[in-house]
Amino acid sequence: MSLTDLVIHNASSVITCAQSAPKRGVEMQRLGDIENGAVAIHEGVIVDVGSSDELKPKYDAQQTIDANGKAVCPGFVDPHTHAVYGGDRAHEFELRIQSATYMEIMAAGGGILSTMKHTREASVESLLESATQRLDQMLSLGTTTVEIKTGYGLDVDSELKMLQVIEQLSKTHPCDIVPTFLGAHTVPPEFQGNAEAYTQYVIEEMLPEVVGWYQGSQFSHQKTPLFIDVFCEDHAFSLDQSRQILQSGIDFGLHAKIHVDQFNSFAATTMAVDLNAISADHLDVTGASEIKYLAQSNTIAVSLPAVNFNLGLEKYANAREMVDAGAAVALATDLNPGSAPCLSMPLVMAIACRYQKLTPAETLNASTLNSAHAIGLGEQVGSIEVGKKADLLILKEKDYRHLAYTLGGNPVETVIKNGVVL
Ligand code: NIG
Ligand code: FE
Repeated sequence: MSLTDLVIHNASSVITCAQSAPKRGVEMQRLGDIENGAVAIHEGVIVDVGSSDELKPKYDAQQTIDANGKAVCPGFVDPHTHAVYGGDRAHEFELRIQSATYMEIMAAGGGILSTMKHTREASVESLLESATQRLDQMLSLGTTTVEIKTGYGLDVDSELKMLQVIEQLSKTHPCDIVPTFLGAHTVPPEFQGNAEAYTQYVIEEMLPEVVGWYQGSQFSHQKTPLFIDVFCEDHAFSLDQSRQILQSGIDFGLHAKIHVDQFNSFAATTMAVDLNAISADHLDVTGASEIKYLAQSNTIAVSLPAVNFNLGLEKYANAREMVDAGAAVALATDLNPGSAPCLSMPLVMAIACRYQKLTPAETLNASTLNSAHAIGLGEQVGSIEVGKKADLLILKEKDYRHLAYTLGGNPVETVIKNGVVL
């Protein structure tokens, strides 16, 4: 018998989502489930996965959890959020109900700029407090790893303040946090009408400061990557500006992400693939030929259907076509105060099944293994495999499909993060 910290046994099924690379095409339907499964955990790491009959006699565990015939799956990885921000946009929410569109509000100086104002005014402490509350709720809904973007500072000091908050969260919150620099989220008032000048400011003034910050941060010490992102869209950044910004980040050793094809398509998905971006996100209006190009690349297609749902749009990203074309699709909340005040990966999965015709199994792989790869953590989290972090969930039901079948509730009973039962 080997000594170990924790054994979880008697799961109806342990859904491992295991695979050594992102799942693409038909692989997304495979769950790698083990009936009557068990997981052994030591020092925060998964040390064994198998049937309960096999594992129980093998380990002398400090703590044993009987999953009581419920399903066990990996903790969710949310690979696209704007979880740090000041204020809210409940006012715009009501304006949209009365017919204003997201883009009209943005063009009139609301939207991202309204959140920028509140974020600039907020102290580090208050940003930390509000973001912690959001992460607490996300964790209780099963999210154990979260990517967080800057992009509501839009000047050097305020972007660095956001990064400071993100770093502080990673020290204080149980969730694993991955930072993304989104200095090019929109053009701030100081550069109004001059996206080109702001682009050069992002490249020449912000980026070197951000890279300097990263090198001294705990992220760099623990080898958590820093990403660079840009919002390629009307009233934000053109194809050429987006390329310049991402290429400058790449030259500094950052990995590229992109907000692309949310409302208008500028062939920027092709550019993202050509830049070897780790992910291309939104993809709501991406056409068939670019979907094919994306599907044949290593760039993960991140769909954010809570945005479409929240904005009351009829059109969703064609995630079904992406999977069928062989793409590796991931899901994320896009948590932000405007287009998606959404904390729940199960709700995102529920929407993706209903409006994008993904199956429950595809949405689960898209929210775990593939989303881990979308933020460069595919070797550490996202599946129940020996050597990975012990981030797992015991669900309330024995059938994992309740994750997406449940609409608006919390299908997660117990969250285990780094081997700690929360
Ligand atoms: O991913 N589209 C750009 N950025 C966010 C929205 C941010 C906001 O509205 O504050 C998004 O949808
Ligand atoms: Fe976003």
